[in-house]
Amino acid sequence: MEGLQLIATGGALPGRVVTNEDLSQLVDTSDEWITTRTGIRQRHFCAEGETAATLAVSAARQALERSGLQPEQIGCCVCATLSGAYATPSTACLVQKELGLAQDIPVLDVNAACSGFIYGAAVARGLLATRPQDDRRYALVIGCEQLSRLMDMTDRNTCVLFGDGAGAVLFEAVEGAEFAVDLGARGDMAIETPPCGPIRMDGRAVFRFAVDALPRTLHAVLDATHHTLDEVDWVVCHQANSRIIDHCVKKLEADSAKFYKNMDRHGNTSAASIPVALNELAETGRLQPGMRLACIGFGGGLTWGGMLITVKGSAV
Ligand code: UT7
Repeated sequence: MEGLQLIATGGALPGRVVTNEDLSQLVDTSDEWITTRTGIRQRHFCAEGETAATLAVSAARQALERSGLQPEQIGCCVCATLSGAYATPSTACLVQKELGLAQDIPVLDVNAACSGFIYGAAVARGLLATRPQDDRRYALVIGCEQLSRLMDMTDRNTCVLFGDGAGAVLFEAVEGAEFAVDLGARGDMAIETPPCGPIRMDGRAVFRFAVDALPRTLHAVLDATHHTLDEVDWVVCHQANSRIIDHCVKKLEADSAKFYKNMDRHGNTSAASIPVALNELAETGRLQPGMRLACIGFGGGLTWGGMLITVKGSAV
């Protein structure tokens, strides 16, 4: 059975930086409340002309360039997003066109909210597995969001939380590679956004769900690969709230230094948060060949997803 290995990453964040101070001019909030409750200090919003797709294209192009692969070597392209500009074409089709990916490969979007990147990687692996004779064993998986387009900037419960961005990862399907994925959903606990309305959320309920789902799915992928948390180099969780990660570190009696955090700079970028974090680790030389990573998403739906992967070759 083939497992996915990470071979290169890319990222893109839009130009407009919005600080907590900026938001306190719009709604009744403060830098102190946002920082202590969430760990978020600033986020990026798309400016004129920027969309989830333009960010996705930049991130994907960077990952492709860094991998040294040619566009025609890519065997599938999956975009995880809940904020693509069109119902159709999919964001992934827009990426295909801009990057000049082959026409005889599967290209699609996946919406599993903040767990989307993990779902996307699992879908990509499945797609490659349906074409075992095809020698294009590379999957381009992107998480990209323009959440600012869906936010009610008068609702202080949500407008301080989210940001825009994109991250892309090129995976190679390698026979025998260590790999595990754990996915699930609780549609019966859905508590969000009405059709076509802005994002709404019962923060406390999602918080309770997250601190339960995160350690559970982490354990599921560790058990599946017969590893302990000590044997994992980085745990890259969805960056919703610093306190959710702290809570889980405590519950797991884990080393907090392996739990990467960047929500202070980007806020919650939903499906983009895990690949953006992976790209930052790679760009700062903190992803080395052979490293073992656990990536954990949780969020709207409600959904969750965990994945254990290793880094192949030189990761950037
Ligand atoms: O990404 C996908 C999944 N999403 C998440 O994982 C989010 C999970 N939830 C959370 O991160 C947290 O629940 C929040 C950050 C959303 C909220 O933090 P909290 O500590 O759970 O606050 P709360 O909702 O219990 O609200 C506490 C108080 C309330 O006032 P009262 O009712 O106690 O008077 C809120 O009205 O804080 C108030 N509040 C605010 N005050 C200042 C809510 N938002 C704000 C705000 N500024 N922006």
